[in-house]
Amino acid sequence: SALMNNVTDCDETYNYWEPLHHLLYGEGFQTWEYSPVYAIRSWAYICLHSMLTWAHLGFLNENKLLVFYFIRMIFGLVCTLCEIQFYKGVSLRFGNNVARILLALMVLGTGMFISSTAFLPSTFCMFGTFLFMGLWLQEKLNLAILTVAASAIIGWPFSVALGIPLAVDILIRRRKYWFFTKWCLVAIATMLLPSFLIDSFFYGKPVIASLNILTYNVFTEHGPDIYGTEPLSYYVINGFLNFNVAFLLALSTIVIVPICEVIIVLKHAGYRPPMLLISFSIAPMYIWILIFFTRPHKEERFLFPIYPLICLSSAVTIATLQKLYGFFKFHRYLSVQWIAALVLTIYGVISLSRSFALFNAYHGSMELYPKLHHIADKADTSETTVRVCMGKEWHRFPSSFLLPNNFTLELIRSEFKGQLPAKFEAPGLEGTRAEPRHFNDENLEEKSRYVDVETCHFLIDFNHGEESTHEPIYSQQQDNWKILKEVDFLISKKSTSSLHRAFFVPFYFYERNDFGKYQLLQSRTNLLK
Ligand SMILES: *[C@@H]1O[C@H](CO)[C@@H](O)[C@H](O)[C@H]1NC(C)=O
Repeated sequence: SALMNNVTDCDETYNYWEPLHHLLYGEGFQTWEYSPVYAIRSWAYICLHSMLTWAHLGFLNENKLLVFYFIRMIFGLVCTLCEIQFYKGVSLRFGNNVARILLALMVLGTGMFISSTAFLPSTFCMFGTFLFMGLWLQEKLNLAILTVAASAIIGWPFSVALGIPLAVDILIRRRKYWFFTKWCLVAIATMLLPSFLIDSFFYGKPVIASLNILTYNVFTEHGPDIYGTEPLSYYVINGFLNFNVAFLLALSTIVIVPICEVIIVLKHAGYRPPMLLISFSIAPMYIWILIFFTRPHKEERFLFPIYPLICLSSAVTIATLQKLYGFFKFHRYLSVQWIAALVLTIYGVISLSRSFALFNAYHGSMELYPKLHHIADKADTSETTVRVCMGKEWHRFPSSFLLPNNFTLELIRSEFKGQLPAKFEAPGLEGTRAEPRHFNDENLEEKSRYVDVETCHFLIDFNHGEESTHEPIYSQQQDNWKILKEVDFLISKKSTSSLHRAFFVPFYFYERNDFGKYQLLQSRTNLLK
């Protein structure tokens, strides 16, 4: 995933990679969310990640492209370590059968492939879910509380909803009031206080970013809905694409598992189903579904924090079906392996087909940047700042980390009429504290963002065969632009059958879908020395 997954979401680029780039190299893009006026993103979260680069900056070389992939590999590693704790807890309480099914679901899932190496608070919360569920199942309650707090304070405040069943377990079932209060206070002292200090330092005024994001989402009149609303089916389709049959099994856990257990109990008086354990373990997922499926503004990443629970619920459902079948066949509740083998095979084939489709369709946009490094190695760019421009493709820019030193992204005009991100106006703290001009919170266009296309040294564009006034096909202007590199990239608009587009079938995939060219162009008029 670290090497093959694309940067799926422009929020990841402009809200996280770019501020990190600003922090490390004194330059980068920001969104209005980083303006001290709104201050709804946390610098503490960015600082935490800047620590990951110390090892790299200190001991290895300074190629930013390597730093980028290095950080993504650390994400993959951290994800694995959290999954191990989760696996341990599940195997301890649910037994090896459930744990092994869970492992297969996690390893093969497309959802894990896309989420595990993303630089997003939702991914951070997903790590948190793995860890806190694992710790909870292992009865390490204090660490579980701290993990939920870390997800909510450093990552994303809404993730605290996942901790409700844990709190219910500790407060109502176990009645450990003082214990709970104590560890919440520890969390406040060790996490909320430092992030308050860090955020206030960077914004230059007292800021609790997690509080701001809550108030923005809950109390602003239009809230986040100006960024598009989707019907309920969005999450169902998305969940199916990412976890296919496992997603359907997870959604139906609440029906299938009680029915199966009741049948077994009725037939076998001595059997005590682990209902308490199961209820506590799947409750966080259903709470999340209740909250997020009903919000008008929907994003794929909003479900990342429950990916671990989707895998767990579906493993529990598969294991319960095995148990029921085994009970009827042999009059004992044993696990019948072929059921798991069958479901997991289907799951694995569909998942890999989906992950392959994503890679083959979209990796092109990440492939152009090494070419710029080859050019930077040859040319003398120490005196000029080299301009790499993007127009309509601005939202597919992965990160300034992929650009060589002295290269910078500039935006040119396109048909897009919303608000674009802008650069921090000054390096370092001066940039993060300044109230940037030309920002609004209503997603309106700001013309001051654009540079003139003649001033660009390079251009990154997607040739999908159509053009318009502000989006000409630059590669056809042969007097102005030379194609340095081009890679196939799926044209979603033209590949109308979403099924052919969504899943990879060898050969068929290329036949049935339309591909355009993702291009790196070099200016013929504005030459590098
Ligand atoms: C990354 O992949 C997604 C599909 O998961 C696609 O919608 C998006 O445009 C791609 N982004 C880039 C930067 O290639």
